[in-house]
Amino acid sequence: MPDERRRVLVTITDTHLTADPDSAADLRAALAVVEAGARPDAIVLAGDLTADDPAAYRLLRDTVEPVAGRIDAAVVPVMGNHDERGAFRAAFGLPGGHDPCDAVHHLDGLRVAVLDTTVPGHHHGELTDAQLTRLAAALATPAPQGSVLVLHHPPLPSPVPSVDLLRLRGAERLAAAVDGTDVRMIVCGHAHYAGAGALAGIPVWIAPATAYRVDALPPAGRLRGVTGPALSRIDLVGGTAVATAVPLAGEPVYDVDAGERVAWMLARIPAEV
Ligand SMILES: [Fe+2]
Ligand SMILES: [Fe+2]
Repeated sequence: MPDERRRVLVTITDTHLTADPDSAADLRAALAVVEAGARPDAIVLAGDLTADDPAAYRLLRDTVEPVAGRIDAAVVPVMGNHDERGAFRAAFGLPGGHDPCDAVHHLDGLRVAVLDTTVPGHHHGELTDAQLTRLAAALATPAPQGSVLVLHHPPLPSPVPSVDLLRLRGAERLAAAVDGTDVRMIVCGHAHYAGAGALAGIPVWIAPATAYRVDALPPAGRLRGVTGPALSRIDLVGGTAVATAVPLAGEPVYDVDAGERVAWMLARIPAEV
């Protein structure tokens, strides 16, 4: 019988922290939302965790780890183009070396595979043949609840010219590596907007950023970044995966007891057959 327990991954990406504690204000707000509302299996930090500031990893850990501990969530760190491998490894206790910081996390039947798509000294993304070979080997045996693949650079074209220039190169090679595997969703950051697509028929979720939002439909001829921090959640349920953006700003339109409202609705809708 397939294992179809609901699993939840919270994605907080592109925090772009400096060593200044004020730079973590939106991260703290995101974590407060998570702690108040969810018991995710993991908090996925999908890259650009710092703004090219190695000293910021201490602030990141000091901000994230107490919350993760209280809600018993794993922390899944992912390299972004504004992260530095040496400082990233030191911050998260990873083995040394200059190789990409790839990882495979096993979360009680759910596999979360992480690829480091960064190219030191550049801002676009690439994957080496060795990384793709290791990924294919890691995915060769299906996990009980399937896999989620996380990488910073979206393997998709972007409607924003600047983001498009800096997307993952050679996405067709990644497509070949994941085609036919148990990967249920590919999760990315980097673009600073919420977006969706597919690679080899697998849904791709481009998670919205915590630091700021890139305007995906600016006035003609303009590139814009605007306020609007957000996180997202990935729910694996009923044999599928669904990604949902959670903006951090907004005034309540309604705010009612969930149990009472659902009971009221159940009394008024036809039963499923
Ligand atoms: Fe970013
Ligand atoms: Fe990035």
